[in-house]
Amino acid sequence: MKQLIELTAGKPIYGGKCLSEYEGRKVMLERALPGEKVQAYVKKRKSGYIEAVAKEIIERSPHRKESDCRYYPTCGGCKLRDVEYDYQTYIKEEVVKDCVRRIGKVIDCEMHPIIKCKIHNNYRNKTEFTFSKLRYYTEEEKGLEEEGFTLGFHAPKFFSKAIDIDHCNLQTDLMNRVYQSLRKTLRSSGLEPYDVVQHTGFLRYMVIRKTNDDRIMINLITKSRKLKEIKDIADRLFSEFPELASFINTINSGLSSTAYGEESILIRGTETLIDTIGGLKFELSCDTFFQVNPEQVTKLYDTVIDYAGFNGSENVLDLYCGVGTIALYISGRVKSVTGFELVENAVINAKRNAGLNGISNCKFVSGDMLKLAKDGELFKENFDVIITDPPRDGMHPKVVEALIGSKVPKIVYVSCNPSTFGRDVQLLEEGGYKLIKVQPVDMFPHTFHVETVGLLVKNQE
Ligand SMILES: C[S@@+](CC[C@H](N)C(=O)[O-])C[C@H]1O[C@@H](n2cnc3c(N)ncnc32)[C@H](O)[C@@H]1O
Repeated sequence: MKQLIELTAGKPIYGGKCLSEYEGRKVMLERALPGEKVQAYVKKRKSGYIEAVAKEIIERSPHRKESDCRYYPTCGGCKLRDVEYDYQTYIKEEVVKDCVRRIGKVIDCEMHPIIKCKIHNNYRNKTEFTFSKLRYYTEEEKGLEEEGFTLGFHAPKFFSKAIDIDHCNLQTDLMNRVYQSLRKTLRSSGLEPYDVVQHTGFLRYMVIRKTNDDRIMINLITKSRKLKEIKDIADRLFSEFPELASFINTINSGLSSTAYGEESILIRGTETLIDTIGGLKFELSCDTFFQVNPEQVTKLYDTVIDYAGFNGSENVLDLYCGVGTIALYISGRVKSVTGFELVENAVINAKRNAGLNGISNCKFVSGDMLKLAKDGELFKENFDVIITDPPRDGMHPKVVEALIGSKVPKIVYVSCNPSTFGRDVQLLEEGGYKLIKVQPVDMFPHTFHVETVGLLVKNQE
């Protein structure tokens, strides 16, 4: 039996949580808004703090509203779906400030108000769904018979189960229609979902991607090859949706639970999609990163330009460059850009993207940032500005060390995780950089995620 305690939620912290206190101990409280009094169950007791989850709200925040999604809160993707949008962005601003001050130990930088998003639903251009034999039943679904086929999102805390999802409010209507059709076909195909415990079955993940001009790519990730069956399924979908441009089958026969694999086979259509940002064209492969919110991405990249303050003479280093989006977006304002990126397909895309847009002052190199940093490969040339846009884990300390050693005058840090941003900023400040200003950008309404841009400048020696 889990212990129940009464708590009052304090300031918001990263991860959709609030700080609270119980009998003099710090509590990380989930599912509560600042100021709410709740009854919560104790999830874990750690050495320095308690983790708790609100079970019942005793005093409700005036900023709560009705959720418009029937999978909320079970799905766990949209932790703020029943919160007024302006309050969602207030929470995100506070979280970024907290990470900069508490984790980054910076109290004197400019903190700019968050750039809000006008579209709050149907904004995502890419979604990843999971297959499972085992369904996680929501409260309303309890009592339904197990069908042995579930397609939806991972059930939080039950790694072998999935919540059966018919549509997701975050992705566009077209993506929902394609998803529903393919889901119906796969359900009746007799193809077995993958079982993470036994490592048996076939269907693992489905990834849907959509361009601004409504071209769709499907990537079906399976444990093994059944090309004839997959081809029939793809043909059926192609006959129904003229928007379908590409159907790929990625084989992941390994134990790692990811939507990537050892081989990607083109089943029908084109191997890549062409999408646009700010008038530039970008070729994308099934395994390459692309920002998921097309409305907000130019605001994010314009902030990078504003913070970097280019005068046209700069040689720029673009770390974690993906398919070259930032490099090509800024290319007209600088002398040169050199991009580094792990995923080889992304680097191939980036090189083609430079050609596709007639841009000749950008070059792209593939490699693991840690290895590149350790081998001294990043700073063989002199740079005036570093742009770094790492994944959620932030930069490896060795990469931060290489940045500090480079003594490049300006770093523009683009982050999708304010807590690792804070951690890296602290290291950079210790190494002689000063965080000057910070701009949060809301790219992910209804979720706790927030994008942050920070400008760091090398202290004068
Ligand atoms: C947040 S994305 C940014 C991409 C790009 N700047 C953009 O805005 O589209 C992070 C990128 O880092 C790459 N990446 C992840 N781990 C890496 C590593 N160890 N070395 C180099 N690149 C890595 C990913 O493949 C991804 O393209």
